[in-house]
Amino acid sequence: MVKKIAFINQKGGVGKTTTSFNFAAYHTRLGEKVLGIDIDPQGNFTYNCGAEVPEDGKTIADLLLKKCTFDECVINTKYCDLLPANLDLTMSEMTIAAKQYKETLLSAALKNIIDQYDYIVVDCPPAFNVFVYNGLNFVDQICIVTRAQTFALMGIKQILTVLDGTNEASGRNVKIAGMIVTAYEPKAAAAKAILEVLENYGTKKGFKVIDSKISKSNMVENSQNAQESIFDFAPKSKPALEYLAAFAELDKYISEGE
Ligand SMILES: Nc1ncnc2c1ncn2[C@@H]1O[C@H](COP(=O)(O)OP(=O)(O)OP(=O)(O)O)[C@@H](O)[C@H]1O
Ligand SMILES: [Mg+2]
Repeated sequence: MVKKIAFINQKGGVGKTTTSFNFAAYHTRLGEKVLGIDIDPQGNFTYNCGAEVPEDGKTIADLLLKKCTFDECVINTKYCDLLPANLDLTMSEMTIAAKQYKETLLSAALKNIIDQYDYIVVDCPPAFNVFVYNGLNFVDQICIVTRAQTFALMGIKQILTVLDGTNEASGRNVKIAGMIVTAYEPKAAAAKAILEVLENYGTKKGFKVIDSKISKSNMVENSQNAQESIFDFAPKSKPALEYLAAFAELDKYISEGE
């Protein structure tokens, strides 16, 4: 059965896109059929895939507003099939927010195609907005992406509150598959202590912080500038090996959570 997962944190710049994009690339490399969904007007996931929305091309905004079909929107990229985003999504936010059933537009738009895929990966924007609610109403599990920074726990508690709220409203049981820590610097003064706090919180709430932390490394940014996955750009690099281990562990938790 298709696995649907969103990478989430309302805090900006914590590694959601890097992680979700490389997760999609990882599963494509395993020979699986993957759909990536960019619901962030910044369009970073779209960029990472090496894709560009043509001038009159369709984006996820058109799909949510039923202005196009799935086939008209989807782009085949080297890394996955992609529902792309650009700034049109921001332009459409008010229109979408005024719609009836505004939080289940994504699920409705995709209900007939999900079985074509093994994995569907959603890259969330740094917000709690109508797009994130659409993501939460569509996926079955989430992966929290965070850095080991001050205030990390505060933000993560908010994610759990929002998830409880959407689960209660929808009657669904979207689960936390795990938490990935990115740009990790074990030598940074507070990093280890913050990590311990996150791990204790995970234990209390029933989810795991993935063992393999992703080190801070220039290779990550360089791979994005090259519009390549870390596995193509620098397969033997530290972050590539750490992501491999992290994704294997995350997949285990996703399977257990099904
Ligand atoms: N392990 C890492 N080491 C060094 N830099 C990293 C690492 N992971 C991500 N970055 C860099 O941090 C920046 C933010 O990463 P990314 O875009 O993945 O975060 P995000 O959470 O998706 O951001 P936003 O909230 O804006 O969508 C990027 O410049 C990325 O290259
Ligand atoms: Mg992002």
